[in-house]
Amino acid sequence: MKGIILAGGLGSRLRPLTLVTNKHLLPVYDRPMIYYPIECLINAGLDEIMIVTGGDHAGDFLKLLKNGKDLGAKQMAYAYQEGEGGIADALKLAEDFADGGKVCVVLGDNIIEGNIRQAAGDFFTQKSGAKLLLKEVPDPERFGVAELLDGKVVSIEEKPTEPKSNLAVTGIYFYDNDVFNICKTLVPSKRGELEITDVNNEYIRRGTLTSQVLEGWWTDAGTHESLYRATKLVAEGGANHLQMPAAVGG
Ligand code: G1P
Repeated sequence: MKGIILAGGLGSRLRPLTLVTNKHLLPVYDRPMIYYPIECLINAGLDEIMIVTGGDHAGDFLKLLKNGKDLGAKQMAYAYQEGEGGIADALKLAEDFADGGKVCVVLGDNIIEGNIRQAAGDFFTQKSGAKLLLKEVPDPERFGVAELLDGKVVSIEEKPTEPKSNLAVTGIYFYDNDVFNICKTLVPSKRGELEITDVNNEYIRRGTLTSQVLEGWWTDAGTHESLYRATKLVAEGGANHLQMPAAVGG
């Protein structure tokens, strides 16, 4: 199973920080934001990784990450997203990289305390479909929100004004290779993007979506408040980091 990190977008909620760089290159405590999703995949044993990015600063990812070896990756591939088509549009660019196999997709601004090794193992043995990681949050209206019935996700609403639960759909997704066909059938949402929530609802419709609640803390880092929270959580030492070169020495 290969890993895909989606690191595009304008980062408009983080202006002016994102006027001269990509959101995912901003610091979260002692390292660039993009290191955390990479770490998340490597910790799960997924060391063939594609970064999908776009905009004016895409070249900086190559400068920072190079071939990924220093971070423990066997392969680091890159794709360039034209425009702002949304998460599911960015994912389409990874179809050849996935090479017919299952994928783990991580949003580049999602940071976790623990690891997803167990979930990755569970999805490896799941015949087909998708698997989501959920997390209780105090502000579900900011996220995709899962409605559960008898422990099963029966619907997901994107940023609902009246959330049906406090379970956010985190930006860590496991998909079979059919995800690329599903992405091709999507139509843009009201905000003009292909939504990952529409992909997940299609798997619910097919009856092949599983989920589990993530252990340890989880945060996004796409707003000033959440970036500050992410920095604090990491600084307080909760995250189980790999010893990466940028984090050691003077
Ligand atoms: C995206 C997804 C949302 C998910 C969130 C997790 O939202 O659309 O369903 O809960 O990531 O970080 P965005 O951050 O693009 O608004």
